[in-house]
Order: sequence, then structure tokens, then C-alpha cells
Amino acid sequence: MNRIIAVANQKGGVGKTTTVINLGASLAAFERDVLVVDMDPQANATSGLGMPPSPDHDIHALLAGRAGLAECIRSTAFDGVSIVPGSRDLAGLEIELAAQDRREFFLRDAFEESLPSRFQFVLVDCAPSLGLLTLNALVAADAVLLPLQSEYYALEGLTHLLETIRRVRGAWNPRLEVEGVLLTMYDRRLKLSREVEADAEAHLGGRVFNTRIPRNVRLSEAPSYGKPVLHYDLESPGARSYLRLAEEILSR
Ligand SMILES: Nc1ncnc2c1ncn2[C@@H]1O[C@H](COP(=O)(O)OP(=O)(O)OP(=O)(O)O)[C@@H](O)[C@H]1O
Ligand SMILES: [Mg+2]
Repeated sequence: MNRIIAVANQKGGVGKTTTVINLGASLAAFERDVLVVDMDPQANATSGLGMPPSPDHDIHALLAGRAGLAECIRSTAFDGVSIVPGSRDLAGLEIELAAQDRREFFLRDAFEESLPSRFQFVLVDCAPSLGLLTLNALVAADAVLLPLQSEYYALEGLTHLLETIRRVRGAWNPRLEVEGVLLTMYDRRLKLSREVEADAEAHLGGRVFNTRIPRNVRLSEAPSYGKPVLHYDLESPGARSYLRLAEEILSR
């Protein structure tokens, strides 16, 4: 069975794409087959995995009905990691989709029709918004993983996101679970990090992952080489933390 996990937070720069790339590579290191779906017009997950644009076989072509899912799945250079590449034109498509019936279901319909069963995990990278593209990801997903930046007072935004998740459950996707809240860019020496951590644990309790992702410069360097951090610096704290996160998810 596939587990489809949307990685979402409407705040920008909290570590969504970093998590998709590096959790994906880490799950693959544990011999799972992973499909990354780049639902963000910035297409950072695509470039971060070293993939060029793929205009006729990307997420835009898929959602616009110009290509089937199987044709849009590309292998990356990293064993076990495939991708449906992103597209800068996706922002325009969001406006076109808005006028259509079943506009929340485009991604789910594509998955239901033809998601290959070999993918144990599908990680959907979302744009920093709660617009129609993110809604499509939440409607198609089994679970949502919420990165929370530990350097920023972010719980208010998270409350809004949890409300959206409740709304999605009520209207379109009752099975949607919270996979977990992930503290990113964590630095235990910083009072702010510890405050965000304490607040998250007080308000979200069991939903916070035990794994913390530290601020680590290797994580921010790796995308410019088109590599997950595992393949860039395996010994780095960033690589180790994402491997631990993969273990935590697999041990459930
Ligand atoms: N743990 C970390 N340590 C150091 N740098 C990080 C870490 N996580 C992310 N970054 C860097 O912070 C920036 C934002 O991260 P990322 O692109 O993953 O966030 P995002 O939530 O996907 O952003 P957007 O909302 O724009 O899509 C990037 O430059 C990334 O390399
Ligand atoms: Mg991103």
C-alpha cells in the first residue's frame, strides 16, 4: 500500500522542500521506493533532486490532463527516488482549475487511476499557501507532515493550518491524518527554539516528532549541487537527523 504524505505549511521557508528531498532520500536508504511530487510552482524539490524541467511530462501536464501519471514519473540519480517534476506554469493552472468541477480532486483522481503500487511512500511538496494546489495535495493525501520552524514564533500559523486540515476532513477527505509536526532549524542553545518546542509540545502533544532537525549548513548547501544531504555529506548532523526521522516514521 502507498502512504501519501503531503508536506505543508502556508508559511514560506520553514523547511518543507528540504524535508521532502531529505526524508525521501532517507526512506529510500531504508530500501523503500519513494515518489516525490512537486506541487510548488517554485519547483525547488525538482532542482534540489538534480532534475531539469520536463515541460510535457510534469505536474502541470498531469493536472491539465495532457499526460498520464506513469508518463510523468521520472527516475532521479538517487536509488529509490522518483519524481513528478514541478512546473513554473503551475501558478497559472491554479487559476484555471478554480473554475472547474471537482477542482479539489485533480491530484487524487490521478493517483487513484494510476499510482504504481511499487511506491511505498509518496511525498508531496506544497507551495507556501493554502490555495487550490495545496488543497489538492491534502485531498489526495493519507497524512500531512507539518514542518515548524523553531526560530520563529509559528504556532498561530499552525492553528490556522490545523483548522484547514479539519475543514478538508469534513468536506473532502475524512481519512486525512496528521503524520506529525516536525521542528526544523532547531538549536537547543537558543531560548526561542526551546520556547517553540515547549509550546508545540503543550499544544500538539503526541503529534510532535521526537526527531528534531537542527540548523545545519550542509542542508542548505546540498540543493545547489542537486543532491539530498545524504549524498552530499552523510556524516553531517542534517543527514543524520533526516535518517532518524525516516526511522521514526517507519517504526510506527
Ligand atoms: N535545517 C536546516 N538548516 C539549515 N538550513 C535549512 C534547514 N532547513 C531548510 N534550510 C534552508 O532554508 C531555506 C528554506 O528551506 P526550504 O526551501 O526547505 O523551505 P520551504 O518551506 O520549502 O520554503 P517555501 O515555502 O519557499 O517552499 C532553504 O534555503 C533551505 O536550504
Ligand atoms: Mg519549498
